[in-house]
Amino acid sequence: MDFIWASGYQNRAAFKLLQLDAWFRFLPTARAVLDLCAAPGGWVQVAVNHVPVGAFVVGVDLVPIRGAHSLTEDITTTKCHAAVRRLMDSNGVAAFDVVLHDGSPNVGGAWVQEATVQLSLIHNSLPPLYT
Ligand SMILES: C[S@@+](CC[C@H](N)C(=O)[O-])C[C@H]1O[C@@H](n2cnc3c(N)ncnc32)[C@H](O)[C@@H]1O
Repeated sequence: MDFIWASGYQNRAAFKLLQLDAWFRFLPTARAVLDLCAAPGGWVQVAVNHVPVGAFVVGVDLVPIRGAHSLTEDITTTKCHAAVRRLMDSNGVAAFDVVLHDGSPNVGGAWVQEATVQLSLIHNSLPPLYT
């Protein structure tokens, strides 16, 4: 995976978001970006590099994210929703105009349980929470 290191991006996931943005061009006009389930932080890196100067980018994950604004929280909890809201308020962000979500549970073969968790991750990224 030498090309990843040569690019400066920290993982292969970064290239998925680069490709999406090349097609849809949603980052160059974004003022506030919320990246849910963002560790280790490849998408945050891409977002920070492609939003306008002064735009706000924050990543949230169960595990710490390197660099940028980040919260170490479980996105399915009201504690996390409140923490994001506080961060919005303290940075003058009324709403996120881009919400990214690359979350997945640890998969190991308990398909029904894992599908339920995956759905819960999606429900907890729905716009009313953050927009
Ligand atoms: C595929 S990785 C995300 C990769 C990321 N987009 C990047 O560019 O580096 C999936 C992430 O979902 C996170 N995750 C799973 N359940 C979560 C939850 N309930 N709350 C927050 N993060 C969660 C995991 O910790 C993991 O870091």
